[in-house]
Amino acid sequence: MSTPSRIYGVGIVGCGVIAPFHARSAAALPNAELRAVMDVVPEAAQKRAEEFGAEAYTDLDAMLARPDIDVVCVCVPSGLHAEIGMRAARAGKHVLVEKPIDISLEAADRLIEACHEFNVKLGVISQHRFGSGMVQVREALTAGRFGKLILGDAIIKWYRSQGYYDSGDWRGTWALDGGGALMNQGVHYIDQLQWMMGPVKSIYARAATSAHTIEVEDIAIAILNFENGAIGTIEGSTAVYPGLPERLEITGTEGTAVIEAGKVKVWEFKDEKGEAGAYGTKVKADAEGPAATGSADPAAIPSAGHQTQLADLLDSIAGDRPPAITGEDARRPLEIILAIYESARTGREVTLPLR
Ligand SMILES: NC(=O)c1ccc[n+]([C@@H]2O[C@H](COP(=O)([O-])OP(=O)(O)OC[C@H]3O[C@@H](n4cnc5c(N)ncnc54)[C@H](O)[C@@H]3O)[C@@H](O)[C@H]2O)c1
Repeated sequence: MSTPSRIYGVGIVGCGVIAPFHARSAAALPNAELRAVMDVVPEAAQKRAEEFGAEAYTDLDAMLARPDIDVVCVCVPSGLHAEIGMRAARAGKHVLVEKPIDISLEAADRLIEACHEFNVKLGVISQHRFGSGMVQVREALTAGRFGKLILGDAIIKWYRSQGYYDSGDWRGTWALDGGGALMNQGVHYIDQLQWMMGPVKSIYARAATSAHTIEVEDIAIAILNFENGAIGTIEGSTAVYPGLPERLEITGTEGTAVIEAGKVKVWEFKDEKGEAGAYGTKVKADAEGPAATGSADPAAIPSAGHQTQLADLLDSIAGDRPPAITGEDARRPLEIILAIYESARTGREVTLPLR
């Protein structure tokens, strides 16, 4: 392996569940080095520092003052993403922020603007976009194989126990989680749905808190009208025991693809198989899609998607280009989720952009 021309120093803010994904990503990249971790809870910072061979901080400014930190990974509760990201940007650090970008459009916009103002890169994690199944379907889409898009569904029926929500006082709160099954969990596949189907024009939704003692929704369903004329649905939950594989179903006039748990399950295109009979040809329930086109399946390693995004952010710094998922990109699924909440609250159809 050739020696990289520059090693980027990485610092992590927030040393909870997701922090190791960023730490392992930095460790795996030849041009990155995890140098510092910070948490308001000293034991949390200390634990990750020992685990990954970095220096522990409880004072963010002290960590940001280090000239050998180039990139800050923001892994704090969602409602603090913009605040921490802006402090990092102001200190001249590039920012890789966890999903969702933040929990309000105002906060997201403040972070986006700060990163522009201080001329640092802003990347936002949506790691499942880089799985082989997702990449394969997206490639078919850009190659025009679907024809005219007509129907797109994201189905994320997961399960989180009450114990999960009780494990952090920010979880399941409006103030810091910003929502429930959609804002925290569904955001991944909602991002991918809009990435495939394009901008959403209007939304009608219902939401409920059915199986947990939390402020936010644990079930939500939405009917979407896309700007391109297609329609679709989102079903998201953290109350579906014991958790089903998430699905993304994309249909155009010329074919259908279904991704389940990151793998292509249905891959049916008229340009390959011709027109079906008058009554269609039902795909077998246990059908497998084609083998992944990528040489390695990033989904096979849990932090591979994060690693891809950190590598991309470092490349975007070196090449002075936008990262693969910018703040503006990450704002779109956030706006869809907020529109779903507004519709569920008011009982009315909500049109985008939100005011
Ligand atoms: N990409 C993914 O698949 C994925 C998975 C899990 C979580 N996440 C995201 O990562 C973020 C964190 O989630 P988590 O599950 O790791 O939460 P967590 O509660 O396990 O960890 C959050 C940590 O941040 C610390 N913290 C809180 N306020 C802070 C502050 N002001 N400064 C520094 N540290 C502070 C807490 O002490 C805690 O250690 C959330 O936004 C979540 O949506 C993403």
